[in-house]
Amino acid sequence: MENRNLDTERLHLRALQSTDSAFVGELIAHEEVRRFLGGPVPIAQREAVMAGCLASADGEIVWLVEAKNSRQRLGLISISYHRDGQDRELSYQFHPGAWGFGYATEAARRVLDYALKELQLDRLIAETQSANAASRRLLERVGMREAARLHRFGAEQLIYVS
Ligand SMILES: CC(C)(COP(=O)(O)OP(=O)(O)OC[C@H]1O[C@@H](n2cnc3c(N)ncnc32)[C@H](O)[C@@H]1OP(=O)(O)O)[C@@H](O)C(=O)NCCC(=O)NCCS
Repeated sequence: MENRNLDTERLHLRALQSTDSAFVGELIAHEEVRRFLGGPVPIAQREAVMAGCLASADGEIVWLVEAKNSRQRLGLISISYHRDGQDRELSYQFHPGAWGFGYATEAARRVLDYALKELQLDRLIAETQSANAASRRLLERVGMREAARLHRFGAEQLIYVS
């Protein structure tokens, strides 16, 4: 498989592996992580969600983000097709123990750069609940800007574009 590992000053982004299942399981079951993502994934669906992350479809990439020095798993970041059927979307979820250190911003910057320069996409978009202030701050820090507001999944959503 093509090597899409990416590095930043503090982080190593690598392909998600089956040995990461316990970590992914913890993330998708976590109340705080899933607060703006429709809540914890129900137990009956967790295996399928994990399998979906591992078998990313064509044009979709899921990275496991780990600390470069300790190899501690910090979160997931991905590029996938947005439900608009045209754009590619940036998504991320980090473990609460890794919040507040700038790791997600650092990973998002690297993935954005990779998408625009190496994948040569015209742009990336991101969709986030307007109530998800941490996610909005992150998107604004990496230079994305709000382009649209809409109502989906029972909440106001913002579409950011790079
Ligand atoms: C969205 C999410 C990744 C943001 O996490 P985060 O910890 O706020 O983001 P970062 O890792 O980039 O850290 C940024 C914070 O660390 C602070 N920080 C500390 N050291 C820093 C450093 N060296 N560099 C940059 N920022 C640093 C920043 O000031 C910032 O805090 P602020 O937003 O309160 O001003 C996290 O809330 C999450 O995983 N949420 C659950 C999943 C989710 O909702 N995903 C979005 C789906 S659309």
